Amino acid sequence: MTGTTGAALGAPAERREGRQKVTGAARYAAEYAPPGRVHAWPVPAAVARGRVTGVDTSAALALPGVLAVLTPSDAAGLAAPEDGTLAVLRTPDVPHRGWCVALAVAETPETARAAARAVRVDYAAKPHDAGPAEGHPDAYEPEDVVGQPGRVEYGDPEAAYAAAEVRLDVTYRVPPLHNHPMEPHATTAHWDGDRLTVYTSTQGGTTVRSVLAGMFRLPEERVTVVAEHVGGGFGSKGTPRPDVVLAALAARHTGRPVTLAYPRRYLPTVAGHRAPTVQRLRLGAHPDGRLTALLHEVTTQTSRVNEFVEHAAVVSRVMYATPSLLSTHRVVPLDVPTPSWMRAPGEAPGMYALESAVDELADALGTDPVELRVLNEPRTEPAGGKPFSSRHVVECLREGARRFGWAGRDPRPGIRREGPLLLGTGVAAATYPVQVAPSTATAEARPDGTFVVRINAADIGTGARTVLAQIAADALGVPLDRVRTEVGHSDLPPAPLAGGSSGTASWGWAVHEACARLAAHPEEGPTVRADTTGKADADSPYARHAFGAHFAEVAVDTVTGEIRVRRLLGVYAAGRILNARTARSQFTGAMIMGLGMALTEHSTLDPAFGDFPEADLAAYHVPVQADVPDIEADWIDEHDSHLNPMGSKGIGEIGIVGTAAAIGNAVHHATGIRFRELPLTPDRILAAPPYQG
Ligand code: MOS
Repeated sequence: MTGTTGAALGAPAERREGRQKVTGAARYAAEYAPPGRVHAWPVPAAVARGRVTGVDTSAALALPGVLAVLTPSDAAGLAAPEDGTLAVLRTPDVPHRGWCVALAVAETPETARAAARAVRVDYAAKPHDAGPAEGHPDAYEPEDVVGQPGRVEYGDPEAAYAAAEVRLDVTYRVPPLHNHPMEPHATTAHWDGDRLTVYTSTQGGTTVRSVLAGMFRLPEERVTVVAEHVGGGFGSKGTPRPDVVLAALAARHTGRPVTLAYPRRYLPTVAGHRAPTVQRLRLGAHPDGRLTALLHEVTTQTSRVNEFVEHAAVVSRVMYATPSLLSTHRVVPLDVPTPSWMRAPGEAPGMYALESAVDELADALGTDPVELRVLNEPRTEPAGGKPFSSRHVVECLREGARRFGWAGRDPRPGIRREGPLLLGTGVAAATYPVQVAPSTATAEARPDGTFVVRINAADIGTGARTVLAQIAADALGVPLDRVRTEVGHSDLPPAPLAGGSSGTASWGWAVHEACARLAAHPEEGPTVRADTTGKADADSPYARHAFGAHFAEVAVDTVTGEIRVRRLLGVYAAGRILNARTARSQFTGAMIMGLGMALTEHSTLDPAFGDFPEADLAAYHVPVQADVPDIEADWIDEHDSHLNPMGSKGIGEIGIVGTAAAIGNAVHHATGIRFRELPLTPDRILAAPPYQG
C-alpha cells in the first residue's frame, strides 16, 4: 500500500523508526556522548520548606572523578524563567521536598551519584503545610483554568437542585498520579563557545529552545535542541523540566558535555504529577431521567511555585443537557511538589467522577446507563451554546453496546457469581477537546522525485513522523515511500508541542498546506514554507470535541479483593483517523493507563514529609502485561469539515477519559457496592461491607 498514490491517509502504516527502536539504534537524550562527556546527579532537598544555610562539598569533591558540585546560587546569574519549576539553583530557598539544591558532576554516573550523596546540606527548616486541600482555609477559586473560566454557572443550580424530584449528592476522590514515562527526563548538553546544544527528552523542542535562550541570555539561533526520539512523556515533558537547565548550567560550569538523566526516584517531585481532586457532584433529575441541575465542584491543590489547576469540572460544561449548571474549581497552594500536565489533565479525573455519578443516577432511577446518557444528549454545547462541529457520542455508545453485548444486561448488582468471583459490566462516555495551534513546516521536491517534509515536531512514541509523511503523501498525491519526514531538531521549522492531543492536527495542518502548495505550484520553486498562524488559531463558531464510549467487564474476587478487568472496549468518534495502526495504539495505550488509574496507580502525599513515598515503579504500580486483558479499540467514521484540512480530531488522550469510570461502574454492578475513591485496590475491596451470597 505504501507504493499506491492516494492511499496514504488512514492506512495502517508502520512506524518509520520501529526498526531503529527495536534494534537499539534509535538514540535517546542520555545516549548522546560527545567527546569528554560527563554525568550529573542532583541533590534533592531534604526538607519540605525552608532555606539552605550551608553546603559542604568537600567530601564529594575529594572523590576521584568528581569535577564539580553546583550549589544553591550557581544559577543566580541566569534570567528568571517564567516557569518557577525551572528556577533551580538560583536561591537557597526550598519550596518543597525534592527540590534540587545542588548538583554533582563526575566522570561516570556512579561517581556522580556517590558525590551527590556525599554533599552535606544544612537547612533552616520552616513549618510546612502539605494539606489536605479539602476544607483548607486558603482555598480560592482560580480565575482561569487552562484558558477557560475557573467557574461557569448558568440557570439557578442550587435552587434547581433543591427542587429536583430525584437528587444525587456524591463525592469522588482521585489521588495524586504520576506520569512515569519509560525514559526519564534526561538531557545531554554541551557548549561550543557561546553556542549551546542540548539533546533532551521533550514533547516540544521549540519551547525548550526559547526557554533556554531566555534563561542563558542567548539569541535563539545559538541554541540547538535535538529530540529525535522520546521515550514517552504523558504530559510530563510538555514543558521544559529542570534537567535541561541543570545540564546546560553544569556543562557551562565544567566546560564539558554533561548528561543528566533524572533518577527515577527523584522524578515524582520534579517532573510534575496529576494533582489529587475531591469532586462533589450533585445531580438533580426528573423521574424520567432528564437532568434539571448539574453541580460539579472540584477541590484540588497546587504548589507555591506555580499555580496549576487540575481542571476536572470542565467536562460538565460539555457532556449533558441541563437547564442549570455549576462547574467550578477551588485550589490551595501548599508546600508540595508542583503538579502539571498528565494525560487528559482535567478530563481524566473529571469524567471519572461525572460518569460514575451518572451511573449512580441511572441506578437510582432504574434506567439503563446507556439510555440515560442518550436521554440527556444536548443539542448544543451546554456551556456557551455553540453548535457542535460534530458529536457522535450516542453512536459510540450504541455501537459499543452492540459490540460488547450490552443488550439484555441484567442491571441488578451483586448477583453474577463464579465461585468467589462477582462479575459485572459498566459503561462510561468519553470526551476530549479539539485543540490546535499554529505551526510552520516546509516541503521540498527533490530532483530524484522524492519529497522531504521538515518540521520541529516531537515524536514521543506516537508515530508522529509516520503520520506526517502520510499527510504529506496525500497532499502531494504521491506514494508514501516517496516522502521523508524530518522532526525533532530545532533547525527545522518551529512547531508547537506534542500535547493536548493537538500535535498531529497542528503539525499536519502546516505540512498539508506546504505540500498542497508545492503540488499545485511547482513553478514557485522546489521548497515551500507554510505557516498556519491566523488559521489554526482562528476562533471557531463551533464547539469542537472528540467523543467516545468505554465498556468494561470485571471480576471481583471477594476472597482476595483483587479486581481483574476481563474485557475493555473503546469506541471513538474523533474525526478522520489518519493512521489506523498508530491510532489504535494511542487508544489502547490510553485505555491501559485508564485501567491503571482505576485499579493500581496512586501516589500518597505524605503530610509529614510533604512528598510521595511511591517514588519508583516497585511502589507506583502501572499496569503490566498480566494486568491487561483483551482490549479492543475502534472508531466510527466521522466527517467534520470544521477542523483542519485532514478532518482529524486529537486521539492521544481520549482513551484515558472515562475508562476508570467504566471499570468502577462495572465493579458496582459486580458487587453492589459503590466505591468512590481510586484506585480500587484489594484493601479497599476487602474493607467494604460483606459481599452477598
Ligand atoms: Mo498531554 S497531558 O496534553 O501531553
